[in-house]
Amino acid sequence: MTKEARVSQRAMVGWYDPRVLMQSGYQVAISNVFGRFSDTRLIEALATQPQAEFDYSQCSGDFWLDYVADVGDGWNSTYAVASAMAQPTLEFGDAGSREVTQPGRVLVFGGDEVYPYPTRNEYEVRTEGPYRHAFAGQPRPDVFAIPGNHDWYDGLVAFSRTYCRPERGFAGGKTRQTRSYFALKLPANWWLAAIDLQLGSELDEPQVKYFQTVASHMDPAAKLILCVPEPRWIYEAAYPSHSGYEEESTTRFLEDQVFKRKVRVFLTGDLHFYKRHENAAGVQKITSGGGGAFLHPTHAPETARLRHGFEQRAAFPDEQTSRRLSWRNFLFPLINPKSGWLYAFLYAMSAWLASARLQAADVVDLPTALGAALNAAIRDPLNGMWLLTILSGFIFFTDTHVRAWRIIGGSFHGAMHLAAAFMVGWCALLLTVRGLDLHYGSVAQLLAAGLITVVLGAIAGSFILGVYLFISVRLFGRHANEAFSALRIQDYKQWLRLRIDASGALTIFAIAIERVPRRWRATTRGGEPTFSAHDARATAPRLIDRVKVSAGP
Ligand SMILES: [Fe+2]
Repeated sequence: MTKEARVSQRAMVGWYDPRVLMQSGYQVAISNVFGRFSDTRLIEALATQPQAEFDYSQCSGDFWLDYVADVGDGWNSTYAVASAMAQPTLEFGDAGSREVTQPGRVLVFGGDEVYPYPTRNEYEVRTEGPYRHAFAGQPRPDVFAIPGNHDWYDGLVAFSRTYCRPERGFAGGKTRQTRSYFALKLPANWWLAAIDLQLGSELDEPQVKYFQTVASHMDPAAKLILCVPEPRWIYEAAYPSHSGYEEESTTRFLEDQVFKRKVRVFLTGDLHFYKRHENAAGVQKITSGGGGAFLHPTHAPETARLRHGFEQRAAFPDEQTSRRLSWRNFLFPLINPKSGWLYAFLYAMSAWLASARLQAADVVDLPTALGAALNAAIRDPLNGMWLLTILSGFIFFTDTHVRAWRIIGGSFHGAMHLAAAFMVGWCALLLTVRGLDLHYGSVAQLLAAGLITVVLGAIAGSFILGVYLFISVRLFGRHANEAFSALRIQDYKQWLRLRIDASGALTIFAIAIERVPRRWRATTRGGEPTFSAHDARATAPRLIDRVKVSAGP
């Protein structure tokens, strides 16, 4: 394997690594507070780029299009999907009902093209590189993309360089769009429109004008597929009291004011699993975010029935598997070893501040030490403020929109950590004073106790967080994102393959890989470097769902 190949194969992002936590928090805060203002030059520049719809309506034979979202995390997952997608054919079923699918003439990225935050280099290493190697020696599709929230964290700078410059292309294939949204005219009077909602905001004026112009070119009987950056139909069911998740306003505006027709198929990512909801009229709402990022749970929160008569028809992985995977939260310290630094710091600081006012007589036994620690928390303003800050932090972190639960759940979680910090500090005292026979308050005893607190605090704190996340996601259906980003599961990946056949019918194939390869062998194909899987435990791509959308009115 070449050196270049080794360095490009990234592990899954460690979301609880303090460095990633701090940078993510900073980027989210900055982009949410200033995002709408800081990027006006870029947005204006993009909006003034000429762009019409892109015409694929004259393509002969069956027309194929691949749709993948939430890519660009670890190498194994991203590359497994890309290389399966690049196979000349993928066949499913038996002799009785055999389906032969082909790679798309067009590849649509549905949002979150890179993790944890966008830079030109991260797009190259985590996304474009894998797709370049995967399609080595194969015909390359034309590539289109809309941004998700992760693409927006730098104000869309790296995204627009990667996808909106037709002169540079993507991974050896062609790019054509010059803006962060686009429309495709497909065969048999099908159209695909893909919108950019920035960070959960509304459509901007140039975008509305673009789609109004596109709509004026559409035949009255044209059928519409709409790609959106997030499944608001799921979020509004999961977070009914949260404003900003109402799907209806944007969808109704687009259907009534812009396209003047009902959308037949909605496609999105943002949640890293596969779920398909359908109503009695056969309208499809498909969430397909399995392109590479860590798995989200399908069992929580409960969203089997949505508004307007939409019901869940398929999910991958199934809910039983999803529930089983949540047990891995008990392994939190092992899966997220760097998270321990945060708790080591919190626990050591708590012990340090508490010990400042304690005398040898205060720590002779557990009840006396507990009383003295409580007394110190009340009497010492610095100590008290520190503990209150920790408690508030855990209340802020709690994922619920019911304020009472937030306070109860957050306080309970924070109190568990404070109790653990006390016990860790107490153990450190016992071990150093009675175990090692060091003089209480001596430099050696304090340093030894500090070291023990750091080590035990890192393990205990991470474990308590894992237990808290497990209880939240299993019993209350909350912290789905936090509980599963912690697991960094690279398996259960999937993408969509769309076919428009000679009759004009649209068939959507959902293709999944249950276990992605862990080992790869460098090779060449058509003179280009590529990688083949070298892992007997990896599973082959399989068809998990298929839905036919009729060509009728
Ligand atoms: Fe995502």
